[in-house]
Amino acid sequence: MNITTMAKMLESVVYDNVRNGMIIGLGSGRTVAALLDVLARLSRSVSIDMESIRFIPTSLQIKMKAEELKMSIGDESLIPSIDLVLDGADQIDANNLVMIKGGGGALLREKVLMYAARKVVILADESKYVDKLTLPIPIEVVPYARAYVSSTLRSIHAEPHVRVNDRGYPVMTENGNIIIDTAFSSIEDPYSLEHRLKCIPGVVEVGLFSKVADLYYKARGDGGFDVISR
Ligand code: A5P
Repeated sequence: MNITTMAKMLESVVYDNVRNGMIIGLGSGRTVAALLDVLARLSRSVSIDMESIRFIPTSLQIKMKAEELKMSIGDESLIPSIDLVLDGADQIDANNLVMIKGGGGALLREKVLMYAARKVVILADESKYVDKLTLPIPIEVVPYARAYVSSTLRSIHAEPHVRVNDRGYPVMTENGNIIIDTAFSSIEDPYSLEHRLKCIPGVVEVGLFSKVADLYYKARGDGGFDVISR
């Protein structure tokens, strides 16, 4: 994706959604990190008073980015008061706006914020919008239940793989759990699948987001962007 296109879209996200005095939840990943750079830059030239905004990060990655930019960070006690969540996605079904998230492992906290916030805005380039969801679904699992959850997933014809880092060690989430990336031959009914997976004992959260966000920004390859509302 062209950097100028993405920057133009992120500027628009800030102008259209960010207001002084807000409590803002931040998803994780490169797109949200890039958005924070844009927000910091704009706050030096337009009337955004960064000191009046509190940010609630979903990962150490994005917390460190916000600290680097001298943003004011709030703790989880503010989650029920979040006005706006800004987040990325790994894949978005262009027909029903259901998402797969958790490529960076922050799915649990991202889902908490998505349900708590008054408004949720998703930012992604057009390569993430697809006709059918095809990525494995990241499932956060308590380590003790690893074998049980894997065998249950296999019994429903899914293919579970414990996520490992590039040296082969299991990836631990910031909540002390593992991620089981689980491939499905097709995802026909995302709402039922999400809730079925969530009911397996040992599953903490599921990276299938059938709850639809309020706005989706889509950066296009031709230099423009679309804003899609549910
Ligand atoms: C984090 O666990 C994910 O849900 C992110 O929202 C997703 O991976 C998007 O990341 P990028 O913006 O880096 O593509």
